[in-house]
Amino acid sequence: MTLKDKINSKNIPEHVAIIMDGNGRWAKQHGKLRVFGHENGVTAVKKIVEAAAEIGVKNLTLYAFSTENWKRPQSEINALMNLLIKALNKELDSLNKNKIKLYAIGELDKLPSKTYNELQKAISTTESNDKMNLILALSYSSKWEIIEATKKISSKVLSGEIDINAINDKLFSSFLCTANFPDPSLLIRTSGEYRLSNFLLWQIAYAELYFTDKLWPDFGREDFFEAILDYQNRERRFGKTSEQLKQK
Ligand code: FPP
Repeated sequence: MTLKDKINSKNIPEHVAIIMDGNGRWAKQHGKLRVFGHENGVTAVKKIVEAAAEIGVKNLTLYAFSTENWKRPQSEINALMNLLIKALNKELDSLNKNKIKLYAIGELDKLPSKTYNELQKAISTTESNDKMNLILALSYSSKWEIIEATKKISSKVLSGEIDINAINDKLFSSFLCTANFPDPSLLIRTSGEYRLSNFLLWQIAYAELYFTDKLWPDFGREDFFEAILDYQNRERRFGKTSEQLKQK
């Protein structure tokens, strides 16, 4: 029995979010430059997108570039932006064939115009796909997103469009970049780091967290299925007791 066969198709996380970490260390281990790690990171992205679509994950969010990543050497930033364009062009047919709809969240106007334009082109080309949403977090940080949402809500309170007492969890969520998607039920981080790195802090309030020592370029289909199986073995109580859940 393969790992994939062990997965319960009735309990697939509706939204999986991944912090893809360890490309640089992987490159170093192979005696190569960091960019080599990112290139191999793209290969891992392809494998995981396919594996997620295959088992019926409806939403997959990948942390591809954080607000903080702008502090990296310019040469690495350029390489990452170019890799993104190359990957989008190369994989567009496959995204359409697998009916995967592309989205991007983050401060996208900070992206170089070529990257931004290619991204928008890929997004509109995949617009009518409906099997899985692939959400790329680019120039994204959770604190930025929460502040932006707060500003928008405050301005509507000031103009009288929103009553201050109407602000609740649901309303706040509707002002986040992820308003179109359910909250992730599983967050995966590779490379043995136990941090959230400013990623979807609001949205993962009740997510199951899964950490693995594997570096991102080494993270493959089997590793992804293992994370799904681990998720399926957890009891999601949402504040209730174990006994209450059994009574249902
Ligand atoms: C973390 O490794 C990875 C990134 C900052 C970038 C992730 C980007 C890709 C996998 C390629 C492009 C993505 C798509 C969606 C096509 P790190 O550089 O922080 O590694 P380190 O912690 O070992 O230095």
